[in-house]
Amino acid sequence: MMHNKLKPFPSNFLWGASTSAYQTEGAWQEEGKGLSVIDVANHVEGVADFTVASDHYHRYKEDIALMAEMGLKAYRFSVAWTRIFPEGDGDLNEQGIAFYNRLINEIISYGMEPILTMYHFDLPQALEERGGWSNRDTVKAFSTYAETLFHFFGDRVFYWLTINEQNMIILHGESIGTSSQSEKNPQKDLYQQNHHMLIAQAEAMVICHEQLPEAKIGPAPNIAPIYPATSKPEDVLAADTYASIRNWLYLDVAVHGHYHPTAWAYLENKGYTPEMLSGDEDLLQRALPDFIAVNYYTSQTVAESRGDESDYSHTGDQHETVGEPGAYRGAVNPNLPKTDFGWEIDPVGFRTVLREVYNRYHLPIIVTENGLGAFDKLENDETVRDPYRIEFLDKHITHMQEAISDGVDVIGYCPWAAIDLISTHQGCSKRYGFIYVNREEFDLKDLRRIRKQSFYWYQKVIRTNGAVREYISLK
Ligand code: BG6
Repeated sequence: MMHNKLKPFPSNFLWGASTSAYQTEGAWQEEGKGLSVIDVANHVEGVADFTVASDHYHRYKEDIALMAEMGLKAYRFSVAWTRIFPEGDGDLNEQGIAFYNRLINEIISYGMEPILTMYHFDLPQALEERGGWSNRDTVKAFSTYAETLFHFFGDRVFYWLTINEQNMIILHGESIGTSSQSEKNPQKDLYQQNHHMLIAQAEAMVICHEQLPEAKIGPAPNIAPIYPATSKPEDVLAADTYASIRNWLYLDVAVHGHYHPTAWAYLENKGYTPEMLSGDEDLLQRALPDFIAVNYYTSQTVAESRGDESDYSHTGDQHETVGEPGAYRGAVNPNLPKTDFGWEIDPVGFRTVLREVYNRYHLPIIVTENGLGAFDKLENDETVRDPYRIEFLDKHITHMQEAISDGVDVIGYCPWAAIDLISTHQGCSKRYGFIYVNREEFDLKDLRRIRKQSFYWYQKVIRTNGAVREYISLK
């Protein structure tokens, strides 16, 4: 649909940017922090680990000042569970509380809205050793952790995200640090973990609404539009199957309190249905999110399953091997260009995703991730020219505005990332930030911060509430 005139962004639109704790903070063993699954995971060879990251833990004041200079209205960050409860539960670490108090106070001192992710991949290792999400006790640990965050930070934090990309944790846990705890039936165990996370999330939403009636809380999945490889009805059906398993399984439970029928049929067919306790259904029904946080990077394309191993395929997004014999086969989309890291670039897909999520759930949407990982270069004149990132973001913002004009209630946009950080599995050379951090994979250099070309561009976008987006020269 072509609009004669695009609707403007709402006047209180939350232009922001995002990060996560383990990818930026560093200080992995400081001030009482416990180990997380990320800290002990088998690290990808040849790329930086997360021990120092962007050293945000020590430089947060400088970083927040730069974000404020860029004009951010919101900063989405995550709390490291292991700074609050080093063992996942049990003793509280006061120094962790003090750090996030300082961070939150700094954010709001500039008039920025803190958007807090409670759990972004970094499950406490102590819990993992007790069975991780396979063990129902982890649900209790998460509720206590959530209650603690609401108690200490709820007077200043209005927007809460429960679990970052739960669907990626389940579908690609091995590259994140969580994995199945069962050798006998790993997939069934993963869907049991998934169910426990859904229960944990529901408890957090209920507690949040009881404890903080003014606050808003929501899930933060990674949503991709799923395209059929052709108009062949079998391909279209396969795309619907995959969308149910990858996207709607998670959001239907979060919003409607019950499993998506096609996703549930898939679980039954495979013998993966989770064990539910009495009371689960009631809790899921009672727990309601106030908004949906959407992380969007790329789309996925699938075809009819051939029913064998050839269904597995590397699609555009390298960390997503797509395909499942008997359900759908991964396919490459010939219409899309790719990033330096092989991820398909699809701004139109962004509009599709925003429409799909809104049309299905009728809840406001905050975009909490969207961005381009690229090899940026610091020039001798102390500049970083990243027109490719500007182009990427510009196109996505255009399609977000198209979606708003389609009637979608998008209330914020927080691209990935506010500042350079360590990619989940591809090191620090894969840069996402508006702010460059001067380090290499194994040479920490001076970690100084440099405003990229995209920094000045985004500053202008925010200043004009999305009206002016042309490229600007650097100096
Ligand atoms: C999202 C995660 O999946 O994608 C982030 O929430 C991650 O933590 C981002 O960094 C980009 O992925 P990658 O693998 O390039 O770091």
